Parts: sequence; C-alpha cells; structure tokens
Amino acid sequence: MFRRLKNCHNVEDLRLLAKQRLPGPIFHYIDGAADDEVTYRRNTASFEECDLVPNVLAGVEDVDMSVTVMGQKLAMPLFCSPTALQRLFHRDGERAVARAAENFGTMFGVSALGTVSLAEIGAMISTPKLFQFYYHKDRGLNDAMVERAQAAGFNALALTVDTITGGNRERDLYTGFTSPPKLTLASLMSFAMHPGWALGYFFSERFQLAELKDFVQQGSNVAVSVGEYFAAMLDQSMDWTDAEALRAKWAGPFCLKGIMSVADAKKAIDIGADAIMVSNHGGRQLDGSRSPFDQIAEIADAVGDDIEIICDGGIRRGTHVLKALAAGAKACSGGRMYLYALAAAGQPGVERALGNMRSEIERGMKLAGVTAVDQLTRDMLRYR
Ligand code: LAC
Repeated sequence: MFRRLKNCHNVEDLRLLAKQRLPGPIFHYIDGAADDEVTYRRNTASFEECDLVPNVLAGVEDVDMSVTVMGQKLAMPLFCSPTALQRLFHRDGERAVARAAENFGTMFGVSALGTVSLAEIGAMISTPKLFQFYYHKDRGLNDAMVERAQAAGFNALALTVDTITGGNRERDLYTGFTSPPKLTLASLMSFAMHPGWALGYFFSERFQLAELKDFVQQGSNVAVSVGEYFAAMLDQSMDWTDAEALRAKWAGPFCLKGIMSVADAKKAIDIGADAIMVSNHGGRQLDGSRSPFDQIAEIADAVGDDIEIICDGGIRRGTHVLKALAAGAKACSGGRMYLYALAAAGQPGVERALGNMRSEIERGMKLAGVTAVDQLTRDMLRYR
C-alpha cells in the first residue's frame, strides 16, 4: 500500500511511511534498539498491562492538558525528547521539529549530537527548549556546549546518564549504518531507491554535527556508528561528582536523563537536579532493563514530592500518557513518536504526530472523566 500523510492516524502509520521513504540503514537506526530489543518492545507493552478505570458524568467540555515541568509551561503533557542526527532523516531536521513543537506549545529537546546549531534554534523559536548534554572526555567541548546552550537561550539542561558506553545495536551492525553514511555500492543503491530522501540529503547543506564538528571529526567527517561514538568519545569515568559540578555550572533547571532506580532518583535530588527523565534510551542501551512506565509508580512513591518525574519512552498513544501521569509522572516525552513523522514528511509530519497525540490525550481525558492532568491519580489505574 502506498501511504500518505493524511492517512496517518497513529505512530505506526507514520512509522510505515518513514520506512517507505528512508533508505534501510537509516530507518533501522531509528527503529532499532539493543541486543534482542526486549526492552524496546517492553517500553510500549508495559502500558498494556495496566488499565484505566474511568469516571463519568464529570462535565468535561473544557479540558486543560497543560503542565509545568522544569519551570516551563507546556500546552500538552508530552514533549519531544532530544534525538540525534535529525538532518539525516529529513533535510529540515531540527528546524522542522522546532517549528512543530513551537506550534503545539510544547518543549523541544535538542541533542548534543544534533545537526542544526543551538544558536540557530534559539533564534528560531521562543517556546521551551531543552539541551541534552553528553559528557565528553574533551573538557573544552563540554564547556563550549554549556556556554553555547546558555547563550542560545536554552531553558533547561539534561545530562545523559545511560550512555556510558555504546549499546549493542545489531541492526546497525547488519546494515553498516554510520554517521555520516558511508558511500558504498550497497548504500548508493539504497539511496537510489529512495530518491525523495536522497535529493534532500545530497542537495541541501552538508550534513554535520553542529555542536561537535569543531572539536571532533567523528560523526561529521569520519564515519562512525553511534555505538562507536559513545564508546570512544564519552567519559566513562563520569560519576555523581561530575554530575554535581555540571549542575553547578548550569544556571537553570537541570535534569538527569536515563535514571531508572529509586536510589539514583534520590541521588539526583541530592545533587540539586530539578527533574529526572525515567528512561532506558528507547531500549537502545541496556537490553533487559525495565520499562520507564513500570518504574514510575515506585519512583513517584519514593521521591515524587521532591523532584519532577518525566516518563520517557514507549509512548505510542494518548492513553499511555494518561497512564504515566496517573502513576505519578509530571509529563511524558518520546523520540520515535515524532522521528518517524519527521522522516516521513518533515514539519507537517511532526505536526501530524503531535496533533494525533494531542487529540488522543484530550479525547482520553474526556472519556476518563478528567478536565485537568492533576485529576489523573493512581486510583484510576489497575495493574493486571
Ligand atoms: C542514540 C543516541 C544518539 O542513537 O541518542 O540512541
């Protein structure tokens, strides 16, 4: 079946459209995860093992789905997680996601492995922006990233804590996916079979990692897999002292992305973090790790009053967001849920993805009998 954006009613439709448009190695980089991809599947499946118990006759004509997280008011309780290499998926990359997020009044997370500069994004949109920091061995690069994010007006900083080494992404090993893509006979054939993508990639400004290119060749000029990049460039000695020092350097809300345990959530509070993204990096790092949703209630019970909890990963439906909020999350975030859409159709695609999710959240709230997100409480959930 030939798919079109107007017929994409959910994340899976957008995924299939992305698959149609992208060369195989690029699609599988987005779609794939670590080892047997058990955690990746579990991230979504865990929502299905928990049911909502709705209330009715609640007068739900007007629904307010806004939330405040990391000091930022968001018009919807779902934001765009930072993801890498976006101009590889669509020529407009981060520019498309930034404008779409702005139009929906939600936060845009920009990765240190992004392909449009922080300065440009900062000048482009006035809605909340989160910078996702990767702790490199190169201290000069680390300092430069903090300064640039601050100068560009980013509102919050998230330190990634679940990529201390590269995950084993076997799809990338099979396809030979690298950043930038290697020009081999196989990849050129795959590009030729996806002319829409190839025109965008080869006839727009050169692909590079905007914040890293002045410090490291890998990823921009030297082709490496993301696993190799993490293993070679990131500082494996990073510990809580380093996280605390980074927190002190950043003048604004600070978040740890990739916290899964109650013990670490408590340490996050101790170093002065404002938020944690409960996340396993979309199942791309430690396969066999528990799903974020399965961990929300436990973490919320222990520290929910002292730190903001964001449920990151596995979200494919508005009702998943409702369940995560009812379990104790302040907001949710997702990567693939908008990346497929970016790859499928650029800014209109991301708007379609966010629009679908916003409608689902609103409809779900009405059907569940709530008019504001703080009315979503644990007594509306039953775990099977
Ligand atoms: C990933 C990184 C780059 O590929 O976020 O998972």
